[in-house]
Amino acid sequence: MSDQVTRYQEDVHTPTEVADPQAFPPRVVKSYPGAPRHPLPWPPERAGHRLGRLLADLGGITRSQWLTPLDMLPFTDSFEAIPDDDPLQWLVTRRPTPSGGARYSAEWYVIAGPDSEVPTGVHYYDPARHDLVRLRAGDYRAQVASRPAATVLVQTNVFWRLAAKYGEMHYRLACLEAGIQVAQALAVAGEQEATARLCFPDADLTDLLGLDPREEGVHALVELLPPTPPAVRGPSLAAFPRAHGAHAAVLAQSRPGPEPLATCAAGDGKRISLPLAAPDLRAGTLTRHAAIRGFNGDPMSPGALATVLAAYGQQARWDLPADLVEFYCVVADVTGIPSGAYRYLPDEHQLELVAEGDPRQRLREAALAALTQQGARTANLWLLPVGDAEAAEARFGARWYRVQQAAAGAALHRACLAAASIDVASRIQNDVLTHLLDQWFGLEGRKRSLLMAQLGTEHPAGLRPEFRLTW
Ligand SMILES: Cc1cc2nc3c(=O)[nH]c(=O)nc-3n(C[C@H](O)[C@H](O)[C@H](O)COP(=O)(O)O)c2cc1C
Repeated sequence: MSDQVTRYQEDVHTPTEVADPQAFPPRVVKSYPGAPRHPLPWPPERAGHRLGRLLADLGGITRSQWLTPLDMLPFTDSFEAIPDDDPLQWLVTRRPTPSGGARYSAEWYVIAGPDSEVPTGVHYYDPARHDLVRLRAGDYRAQVASRPAATVLVQTNVFWRLAAKYGEMHYRLACLEAGIQVAQALAVAGEQEATARLCFPDADLTDLLGLDPREEGVHALVELLPPTPPAVRGPSLAAFPRAHGAHAAVLAQSRPGPEPLATCAAGDGKRISLPLAAPDLRAGTLTRHAAIRGFNGDPMSPGALATVLAAYGQQARWDLPADLVEFYCVVADVTGIPSGAYRYLPDEHQLELVAEGDPRQRLREAALAALTQQGARTANLWLLPVGDAEAAEARFGARWYRVQQAAAGAALHRACLAAASIDVASRIQNDVLTHLLDQWFGLEGRKRSLLMAQLGTEHPAGLRPEFRLTW
């Protein structure tokens, strides 16, 4: 079975032809005519309803933009490819998370128990109405939760929304977006002690949600444990480290973390220590957007670089090993850092030199669209998570591709959120022939770079009129 996955990874790098795009309905929100609904308070950030706010921050329709064909030109290279039925009134709605081609194929379902803020049952989150559609009435958490969670969120992907535009490549994007969605959930869950799983009984979950697995895949679970009332606390026991160590060892054994793959041996490249950084991902969710006009070419400060990289390499609270991807990046015009390709080492918070020299021409040759080529000239930082297919397959079997892509998507999204929190602009780009850079990076065996994000100072014309629909 994993042969098919390997063949998919080797063969599908760019979109493939879609014989009949009209065969795919244009709707991007599901409907369940006649099913009972449970309203969530609006606006979500005012109501003190943690779950309602979390769902809006994940999949809600929270932004709208007014675009014209001139805004689309850098993506299409010509007006020919732009539909012109009403070219001056192009209102697009957007969500808090990025989405390949803005197809918004990710969906969220809610499995609630009696301690949840919503009625016990299995629900679909309807982003258009900001309410829950009840699919089942019982308490089904025992089938899905690995912890005593009050609520379990389930992330799925409606494949055809992506397939209509990207053909075979839809599966790659669906897997990347699972990581993006989970990274967002972990960033916005606040005090609800969220943890995520990407390995679970997929077929059972698909049945529970009543999905047709050929149309919609279940990709991730997020388990939420809301806080109990605050207790009167005792004094710190830091003065008794031996007793604390003995107690902590038992706790660690009772819920062991994922074992590292340990395939990323230390290299012998020159190391650069970075300034200390404390990225605020939650703050970044308020302003993150994909830079629509690229960057202006100003230099980046080492502090900004350190903040973005600290988020890029942060270990997520999930069931995947911390080294499932390695954190490669390319740097140009960052004050005090020589231009070139590097590997970011999260534990040491250091950059390790992989290949020296101005990367802009190489990046330009790998970029397909005009906007991406512009970014090759004017961004300062290009993030390219790298995955080892052999090690991932040995650990995860046929699931290896899915979890590796998710880890890459999550790493880039964390970096984009950290960037937004310090006014650094970003754009995730899949229209890049990343394999053209792999040789330069010295990747061997089945190691590949998986996706790219460009980061830099936003082009002055980049901020399009955008309205926040909630806050
Ligand atoms: C997996 C993925 C791949 C993407 N690939 C591209 C790309 O190749 N070119 C591009 O211009 N934008 C790309 N984007 C950015 C999306 O177009 C953008 O997120 C979407 O239009 C929504 O806008 P927003 O990010 O401002 O919310 C990608 C986003 C994701 C999540």
